[in-house]
Amino acid sequence: MEEARGIQYGDRREAPIGVFDSGVGGLTVVREILHQLPAERITYFGDTARVPYGSKSRETIIRYSRQIIRFLMTRGVKAIVVACNTASAYALEELRPQVEVPIIGVVKPGAKMAAAVTRNGKIGVIGTEGTISSGIYTSFLKDLRPDMQVLGKACPLFVPLAEEGWLEGEVPMLVARSYLEELCHSGIDTLILGCTHYPLLRPAIAEVMGPEVTLVNPAYETAVSLQNLLQEQGLRSPGIHKGTGPLCEFFVSDAADWFNRFAGRILPAGITNTRQIPIEEY
Ligand code: DGL
Repeated sequence: MEEARGIQYGDRREAPIGVFDSGVGGLTVVREILHQLPAERITYFGDTARVPYGSKSRETIIRYSRQIIRFLMTRGVKAIVVACNTASAYALEELRPQVEVPIIGVVKPGAKMAAAVTRNGKIGVIGTEGTISSGIYTSFLKDLRPDMQVLGKACPLFVPLAEEGWLEGEVPMLVARSYLEELCHSGIDTLILGCTHYPLLRPAIAEVMGPEVTLVNPAYETAVSLQNLLQEQGLRSPGIHKGTGPLCEFFVSDAADWFNRFAGRILPAGITNTRQIPIEEY
């Protein structure tokens, strides 16, 4: 994926980190990166015209992800975070050899963290149809500990609930109860929120699962992995920001105003400058 870069940074360390998701969910990962790596610039792309990814085929997700990576490369990014579990499951390993900057997803860090916190080796994973049917969490968890028992459950309605901002009250509780009932009685002590939208529904999920079950949000460990990666590659920002552009920039494939409003609920500082781009042209 050799790309002519639109923006060049004299000092590569000053370049932004590209982060993408199918929509707004990846902002939960941005929030964590901003918290752990406050000196870094971020260029975010949310594929709001083509969300959801969770019910689409592998081939489609690879094509979408390839276009987004091409776009991010035109912004001169120094590394890429695939802040979408479905894209991490379907597209990351396929595209990695073609990408000329370091790239990480959210699945491996999430699996690593869950393996570290479980006491009884029984882990639940909730995510989109695509992530769960790919079996990717199970395979990473079993690589870490072969005797691990992993139970997966797709919870597709959580995504539109999160996108609608319907995060509390009767409806999310009802949906959470109905999806999670089986997992509640399965003996798991750890549950991976294997979809970037699900941390937004954390209160409902936590209430249904009860205090004995630790909820793992892969965003935290993803930011830790990113920090290690940047360090290893000598790409940590010196934090001077002399040059090009703002600290964070946001792009979407549709509905920039709606994205601005939604982002204000997730990120500490509101955003107003989201731009819509024709992602199919990349
Ligand atoms: N961002 C997606 C993920 O983490 C969930 C939303 C979707 O289905 O596109 O898997």
